[in-house]
Amino acid sequence: MTQQAAKIGLLGAGTVGSSFLELLEQRSDVFAKPSGILVRDPNKARSASVVADKVTTDPEAVIAAADIVLELMGGTDLAGDLILTALAQGKRVVTANKAVLAERWQELRPYLAQGLLYFEAAVMAGTPVIGPLTGALRGSSPLELHAILNGTCNYILSQLELGVTYQEALKEAQRLGYAEADPSLDVEGFDAAHKLTILARLAFDPDIAWESVKARTRGISQLTPAIIKEAMEDGGRVRLVGSVYPQDGAWQVEVCPVYLPAAHPLAAEASNRNGLVFYGDAVGQVFIAGAGAGALPTASAVLADTIAALAARPGPSLLPAAVPVPLDYQAEKLGEIA
Ligand code: NAP
Ligand code: HSE
Repeated sequence: MTQQAAKIGLLGAGTVGSSFLELLEQRSDVFAKPSGILVRDPNKARSASVVADKVTTDPEAVIAAADIVLELMGGTDLAGDLILTALAQGKRVVTANKAVLAERWQELRPYLAQGLLYFEAAVMAGTPVIGPLTGALRGSSPLELHAILNGTCNYILSQLELGVTYQEALKEAQRLGYAEADPSLDVEGFDAAHKLTILARLAFDPDIAWESVKARTRGISQLTPAIIKEAMEDGGRVRLVGSVYPQDGAWQVEVCPVYLPAAHPLAAEASNRNGLVFYGDAVGQVFIAGAGAGALPTASAVLADTIAALAARPGPSLLPAAVPVPLDYQAEKLGEIA
């Protein structure tokens, strides 16, 4: 008797979706095939892996035909509604969409609690952070976390260090597939804030509100070449960093450009790489780094989540309650660029 390939419904076949399909084609060990592929423009030229007779503009048909659903379209409105539709039909959903997780967390929460949603690709692309923060690192109480979470900003800042202009660097980040469809989400810090909100909820407090993080977010669009040069002359680098740390009896969550001395672990991360430094009471300092944006690294995490979803292994688990804020702990102070 021949085994039927699992049916995967793809919502979106752009940078990440088409790369996922290419990767899936190469993996004879993953017994799954696309059953429907939602796009906005069915007449656009696409790679051969985006099987033409599966392409449609009907999202409901894609969801209905699928065993599991992959949301790779982006945005918070339609994408969020379709994720909820699929989950309500009892389908496991894999997503790379940090915006929808940050902004529609409360609606998604019952399904997150059941382990039906998978989102390793949403933060630091193929570099694993959701897994460690909701797994191995749960054995320690978190004390603070600092992370470079946006590949586009990191790429632009690295290019500014080489004398490339801001506009040229942004254009190249878009060409390389790092930037969001609306790149102001990257350069104004909101994409990093979306990701930081997810990490903060998973490791520190499940009730952290998106609006409170958004209000404490600054991006890189106001940085001048002179600021970058001055940091380099001082032996360090400017990076966009998201931080969670205890202060005044509460967890503080913020994103801003900071000065990092050369010896800081995050200072070495250039181009599209991201990095995360976690401090836990028992484990001490843990540093995770790797590609944070781009088609293949993101597709890698989407495929890993797809494999987990097909095997019905539960997605990342939520904290039952906020971790108590340590009262006499002195957090690392990063030098915010004014
Ligand atoms: P993208 O290249 O813009 O692709 C989006 C895809 O969704 C396209 O195929 C598009 O159709 C389709 N789509 C968008 N809106 C639609 C609508 N209203 N109706 C039907 N189809 C629609 O975006 P991407 O870079 O692949 O990113 C996808 C998701 O992954 C986003 O949530 C993003 O934040 C996340 N992500 C991206 C990266 C990265 O490095 N690029 C990394 C991690 C996470 P058309 O092809 O017809 O336009
Ligand atoms: N636009 C995002 C970035 C994609 O540049 O980091 C990865 O999430």
